[in-house]
Amino acid sequence: APESGAPRRLTGKRILVTAGPTHEPIDPVRYIANRSSGKQGYAIAGALAALGAKVTLVSGPVTLATPPGVTRVDVETAQEMANAVAQALPADAAVMVAAVGDWHVEAAAQKLKKEGGAPPTLHLSENPDILAMLAASPRRPGLVVGFAAETEQVVDHAVAKRTRKGADWIVANDVSGDVMGGEANAIHLVTADGVEHWERLPKEEVARRLAERIADAL
Ligand code: CTP
Ligand code: CA
Repeated sequence: APESGAPRRLTGKRILVTAGPTHEPIDPVRYIANRSSGKQGYAIAGALAALGAKVTLVSGPVTLATPPGVTRVDVETAQEMANAVAQALPADAAVMVAAVGDWHVEAAAQKLKKEGGAPPTLHLSENPDILAMLAASPRRPGLVVGFAAETEQVVDHAVAKRTRKGADWIVANDVSGDVMGGEANAIHLVTADGVEHWERLPKEEVARRLAERIADAL
């Protein structure tokens, strides 16, 4: 490694990373969440910082330590994540790893009670698509990387998502097994040039390789 203070590959670059799940409240004590652990996003934030980038990590609720050199902004809901992402601009690159909740509920002010009647119905509304908004924004980072969590037709869905959301790259992973919360990840990197199939690797190694690719692209 270079001696401390020496320029590294991403010195002077600002990079925004989102990670973790979101929590969408139902009432003061309940929420809708997902199985994201934040491990892959945190590893990516750490790998980018290790290359010298100034990293802002917008994180949903997770139990991980902040990687060295990373500035962390904690959020709970998708709407809060969207606001924090806007606040973190401008950036040279954005890596949107978070498993953003697709829907929210109009949260009840008081705890819902059984009260002996029918169970409550949750009325879901769609959350803002943070990645698509960022990619369409006048403050769009030069490189926008999205993730795609799929349980079937992984590559086809990821290729379609890249175009639909206006991302430069999509990192696709099959989350039908033990990926969410697990230690390893087999990804497909979808770019304008085509699709690369990476071998199954520890999330830390996926992060290091992706950080090097981002450094190549910047
Ligand atoms: N994403 C986002 N805002 C949302 C939903 C998703 O920014 N409201 C981002 C994720 O961080 C990820 C990418 O979009 O980088 C793809 O997320 P994914 O859940 O795979 O795609 P969706 O567009 O939500 O489609 P679906 O869940 O229906 O497959
Ligand atoms: Ca989704």
